[in-house]
Amino acid sequence: MRFDVLTLFPEMFDSYLGQSLLKLAIQKGLVDVRTWNIRDWATDKRRSVDDKPFGGGPGMLLMCQPVFDCVEAVQAEAESPGQLIMLTPTGRKLDQQLVHELATFDRLLLLCGRYEGFDDRIRQGLQPMEISVGDFICNGGEVPAMLIIETVIRMIPGVLGDETSSKYESFAEKGLLEYPQYTRPREYRGMEVPEVLLSGDHKEIDRWRTEQSEQTTEVRREDLFESYRERFPEVPPKKKRRRRKPASTDTEPTTP
Ligand SMILES: C[S@@+](CC[C@H](N)C(=O)[O-])C[C@H]1O[C@@H](n2cnc3c(N)ncnc32)[C@H](O)[C@@H]1O
Repeated sequence: MRFDVLTLFPEMFDSYLGQSLLKLAIQKGLVDVRTWNIRDWATDKRRSVDDKPFGGGPGMLLMCQPVFDCVEAVQAEAESPGQLIMLTPTGRKLDQQLVHELATFDRLLLLCGRYEGFDDRIRQGLQPMEISVGDFICNGGEVPAMLIIETVIRMIPGVLGDETSSKYESFAEKGLLEYPQYTRPREYRGMEVPEVLLSGDHKEIDRWRTEQSEQTTEVRREDLFESYRERFPEVPPKKKRRRRKPASTDTEPTTP
């Protein structure tokens, strides 16, 4: 799968592309990431890419011409023009469902904004898929673009060492949060690994994990739990569920 990142700060990707799973995926030829500097398509001496908003207001906006020219040139760089994505807080919120949808494309162009964002005619004229990574404002679209690469490549067969790991993660098939996990030692500062995980009884371990996932999701993410109950109506409501000692006495999220 190919990603083309259109940005004013391509250097931000130098270190990112050379690390961990992404680096390996690139080495294996499963993922190809190219960065493009929008400023290379500026036409004036000062290589301007932004200007003040009509009607006044703070900051600067990315101008149409360098962005249109950059997008069109990069689209023409491969046989498939790919799916253009505009990173914007006003877009559809990224979640695991959208990650799955994005993973079906063979090429994604990630258009990163800066300053106060884009001249709206960029959106009107290029008709990108608009994606937000959450209800907060980042300084630019680069970290949101990395988030998209980061999440989408996990869906590509061969990228993860163990293909089953994405199947059992939070938000996977069942849409639940993950159960608690433990590694050695069995006891640390008085905290013990739940007995069932040491039992070798895989049926019982599976049952425990499902229960833990359900409990955690019910307590922390009512929205996810409701949709899980709709899809799996056989799941008993809270009160009727078998009471077990929870893995942690505190299933509430930790707050500072
Ligand atoms: C400082 S932000 C501009 C915010 C814009 N004025 C607004 O209020 O919606 C600059 C750029 O960062 C990127 N960005 C910031 N927050 C984002 C988010 N939550 N999701 C995706 N992109 C984001 C976008 O590309 C945006 O054009």
